[in-house]
Amino acid sequence: MKLTNRLNAVVSLVSQRKVADIGCDHGKTAIKLILDKISDFVIASDVNKGPAEACRKNVAKYGLTEQIEVRCGNGISVLKPEEADCIIIAGMGGELISKIIDDNIKVAKSAKEIIMQPMTSEESLREYLTENGFCITDEVLAKEGEKIYVIIKAVTGEGTDKYYFSELLGKNDRELIDAYYKKVTKRINDKIKGAEIGNNTEESTRYKEILNEVNTIYESISNN
Ligand SMILES: C[S@@+](CC[C@H](N)C(=O)[O-])C[C@H]1O[C@@H](n2cnc3c(N)ncnc32)[C@H](O)[C@@H]1O
Repeated sequence: MKLTNRLNAVVSLVSQRKVADIGCDHGKTAIKLILDKISDFVIASDVNKGPAEACRKNVAKYGLTEQIEVRCGNGISVLKPEEADCIIIAGMGGELISKIIDDNIKVAKSAKEIIMQPMTSEESLREYLTENGFCITDEVLAKEGEKIYVIIKAVTGEGTDKYYFSELLGKNDRELIDAYYKKVTKRINDKIKGAEIGNNTEESTRYKEILNEVNTIYESISNN
């Protein structure tokens, strides 16, 4: 099973045998986890019938109906507490990922790890995690063409207040770190510009402080 760089990076963070892939779409992640013997059992679930059906067909095509159970339903509501030791939520906006966790936070916290790949608003996802009793333990980057993605692993615990850029990125390849730094600083600079246009001094000062913090972390990663 050949996956994209983004999904390979998601899979690289899985350390549990019982996994749930929420928003499984085609089901390729679940199939890869079983074929590569990373996990023993995957619940692959999607809120929409079309993707759940497509996943079911793919699972049958690979003869994995014993190891992959396909469910159709909203977010983590398809899971019972402790049914999955790892919950994957990939390929959705950061705010939707936060909502999916928040809607069923007890079940989310019963997992040993949550692996998230936000397509947007990763800073708001990190903030949500920190403010709701999760600790980010790993961040992996993946590049596809000009696009750079971050994959975040969290466990229950006390977290960081660095929502834009963290030391955890330091173990990634130089090229990926630089690409992510460029993306993040562009977003912050756009916010500074927007605040200045709107004469919002407080907001522009806040984002300038965040930019300084990001630059300090980037330099410390670069010097290591
Ligand atoms: C862009 S696809 C990403 C698929 C795959 N996870 C990936 O990363 O390639 C998003 C999938 O999430 C599903 N989805 C969106 N909201 C959901 C929710 N609340 N619960 C479960 N699945 C959801 C969509 O139906 C869609 O199949």
